[in-house]
Amino acid sequence: MWVHLNGRLVEESGAFLSVFDRGLLYGDGIFESMSAVAGVVFREGRHLDRLGRSAAGIGLPLPLTASGFSAAVRDLLDRNRLQDARIRVTITRGEGRPGDYVEAYGPPSVVMAASRFEGVDPSLYRNGVRVAVARRRQIPPETLDPAVKSISRLTSVLARREAREVGAFEAILLDGDGRLTEGTVSNLFLVLGGGLLTPPAPAGGLPGITREAVVELARAASIRVSEEPLPAGSLETADEIFLTNTSWEILPVVRVGERAVGGGVPGPVTRDLLARYRDLVRFECRSGLAGPDWKARS
Ligand SMILES: Cc1ncc(COP(=O)(O)O)c(C=O)c1O
Repeated sequence: MWVHLNGRLVEESGAFLSVFDRGLLYGDGIFESMSAVAGVVFREGRHLDRLGRSAAGIGLPLPLTASGFSAAVRDLLDRNRLQDARIRVTITRGEGRPGDYVEAYGPPSVVMAASRFEGVDPSLYRNGVRVAVARRRQIPPETLDPAVKSISRLTSVLARREAREVGAFEAILLDGDGRLTEGTVSNLFLVLGGGLLTPPAPAGGLPGITREAVVELARAASIRVSEEPLPAGSLETADEIFLTNTSWEILPVVRVGERAVGGGVPGPVTRDLLARYRDLVRFECRSGLAGPDWKARS
């Protein structure tokens, strides 16, 4: 595969960064994960806006404008002949020195990589997944703004390992007061009495692009949506639970630990929203209409 490295398309096997890159030394950087359908990135403008906010949140001057990023992503997809793809943009503060927490000794490092992607295993949607509430807690917003999509992911990695130890697919993180926040790589929704409940973003987690689309779709379908702080116990009373992210779309949760959610099968509201979400992605990507994303892009 070809990757974009600091302004050039290079073959993956020849793409190298310094061993003193601050991304490696300190996790000092940000990233975005996007998906393309039929060669068009779903809500690219939203992703690039979020990248800009992440960069501002850590005081990192972005080396490219939004249109520069967009053109680079286009080149990357074209060079790799990709239509349906996952794209990761990673930006670090550049080369540093061990022990020097503050200074970067070069420009930011930019890496963009893409791979073929046609969705996750379809059986996950048919059967749903199990989640586990992690013992470790979410990084508090006072420590790191949850809206910053930072490459420092150790909390998420360890929480996910905890989940895997008990056979769960995703870990749910609580805040210091025991309220629900999000998954390690996903936003969390509960269905209760036909309406949706989700922790507020960014207070309760990353403002996901998929989360935003789901809220729009639900409201358009006259499904009540409430963004509110939720105690961990809400997981026990929910009729349905689902997770959202760019790759998983809307993933039904059928077990929290040992306890079945609903009837232990994906529920009707989750299935309905998944169908609507897929239609939306197809519509926006295939019709060439950018939908509500257009304003952000132009
Ligand atoms: C911590 C976290 N929350 C939520 C999400 C979902 O965001 P999106 O829907 O933009 O993929 C992600 C995506 O990677 C994430 O890492």
